Amino acid sequence: MPEAVIIGSERSEVGLPTGMEVLRRGGSALDAVEAAMRCCEDNLTDHYVGTGGLPNAQGVVELDASVMLGSSRRFGSVGALRGYPNPISVARAVLEKLPQHCMLVGEGAALFARENGFSTAELLTEESRALWREQLRASGESVEGENTAALDGDRRYRSAALDLIRRLAPHEGPWGTINIIALDALGEMCVGVSTSGYPYKYPGRVGDSAVPGAGNWCDLRAGGAACTGRGELSMRGGTARSVVELLALGREPSEACRSALAEADALPDDFRAELRALALTPDGRHGGAAGQQGSTYAVMTERSTQPELHPRSVL
Ligand code: GLY
Repeated sequence: MPEAVIIGSERSEVGLPTGMEVLRRGGSALDAVEAAMRCCEDNLTDHYVGTGGLPNAQGVVELDASVMLGSSRRFGSVGALRGYPNPISVARAVLEKLPQHCMLVGEGAALFARENGFSTAELLTEESRALWREQLRASGESVEGENTAALDGDRRYRSAALDLIRRLAPHEGPWGTINIIALDALGEMCVGVSTSGYPYKYPGRVGDSAVPGAGNWCDLRAGGAACTGRGELSMRGGTARSVVELLALGREPSEACRSALAEADALPDDFRAELRALALTPDGRHGGAAGQQGSTYAVMTERSTQPELHPRSVL
């Protein structure tokens, strides 16, 4: 049986030690992914996941998350979930308590969270709100009716928000979606993904983090994979599943990630931003790829005292 291992994308280091502790105590890969991801979702300095995530164009935080198990390919996800700080736990509840479905979005996802006893919270922190308002001000339009003299203010606000989405789409810097993949002592694998999604996105937009095959895929016959970055590309490319299919053909994890990213990279896209991928095999090999030099992912085994950073291969 392979040694338990947990890997994660940039900024998952906040949660990996908690996940590894779960694995060391004999916990499942699903328990480890959930525990690790909750730490990331609760990290207020990360503006791309959970509480403190950047809001949609109307200033409302909407979260996407998913979990997938390798032995059965059972999948649970939520999309555009408002008001619940730990969407990874709601996604897990979909997987475990609503086996007739795989994915819930919007009001239905919130209803399910409420029915299952999850607590609500204000997800828009002062800092995230300030970042959003700063962007809106740059559009020269009013925010929340400040420009009351404008009779057509509401219409202009909506138009400005749409312009803003178009203008901000290819945003700079790494995306903050978090991928965590764990392999437990029994050989089960779980892939988890959580995000606040595209900053200032169109309300209701759901990205690849909630979509099986796009941002998350796990098949114990070959491995698990997950994506960060421009979700529209991985949804069109079926990128996480492509990575796992390449693993099944015998490709090494970093090579499989690079090839799948190259395929998505060839798609025409006016809003291009970087896409990254990460993969783990059932015998514990791991790798990642990205479009930029210097990109890393984090790894912990049972012998680790802290997450180790590994380079991603470059597209
Ligand atoms: N990959 C995260 C998103 O596109 O929402």
